[in-house]
Amino acid sequence: MNYTNLLLKKDPPLLTITLNRPDKLNALNRRTLEELDSAFSEIEKDEQIRGILLTGSGEKAFAAGADIAEIQALDLTSGEAFARFGQQVFARIENCTKPVIALVNGFALGGGCELAMACHLRLASENAKFGQPEVNLGLIPGYGGTQRMARLIGKGRALELLLTGNMIDAQRAYEMGLVNQVISAETLVAAGQKILNTILKKAPLAASYVLETVNRGLNVSLEDGIRLEADYFGKSCASNDMKEGTSAFLEKRKPEFKGK
Ligand code: COA
Repeated sequence: MNYTNLLLKKDPPLLTITLNRPDKLNALNRRTLEELDSAFSEIEKDEQIRGILLTGSGEKAFAAGADIAEIQALDLTSGEAFARFGQQVFARIENCTKPVIALVNGFALGGGCELAMACHLRLASENAKFGQPEVNLGLIPGYGGTQRMARLIGKGRALELLLTGNMIDAQRAYEMGLVNQVISAETLVAAGQKILNTILKKAPLAASYVLETVNRGLNVSLEDGIRLEADYFGKSCASNDMKEGTSAFLEKRKPEFKGK
């Protein structure tokens, strides 16, 4: 695909994706969602890429939401289709088998906050601002915000943000559990790379099983989630990397994982 609203910087094993509509505060129009969908579909097939950083261009915004100009024309049927398409793209990101870190460098509002929540981890710059202001527009979030936010930070806190539409700063987002770390804007990329490089030193299959069991487990009962965990524990025991990891520990050496 020809990318016009995303910048893709491949630096194996990492890929940095930058939302690139700074004049519109990186608002997520249809084209941007299509490009995200395509980029994450390609990532699954690209063996060189093992970790992804997602950020916004410019100093002001990660993404200031879905594109309000596009939303205005929606009705009952097209509105539902609009939400379903965005949800499908964000589910692809959440279900990515490789770790995805959102680097939130300014406003993450509406769809921008929902996009950050679909990523596996979130790092925020000190000037980041989060919120779900849809109620100000006569809307509710449509890209998974009502569901992911309640799961991520709990029902009471999610309802506070969803009902008031209030914006919160990075420190408050950290206190609420919405972001993993708050750091200076200058060190945001380096901090994201550092976390990904730490993850990439671990057994790749085990890391992808962690992502899969946590993601799938949140959608089922505790009993089914626990059963799922046992399935994947068994799978990890059947991997060469488990033999290597446990042997390396017992032989007091560093493991050499092969992702098999
Ligand atoms: N959709 C479409 N365009 C958007 C947008 C969005 N979600 N958010 C910002 N923009 C556009 C503005 O219309 C403006 O475009 P223009 O220069 O052609 O007029 C440009 O981005 C800059 O935004 P502006 O509002 O001038 O910046 P600001 O610094 O004064 O305010 C915000 C920043 C984020 C507070 C403000 O842009 C805002 O409230 N955005 C909407 C947030 C929102 O409701 N998101 C949920 C959408 S469902």
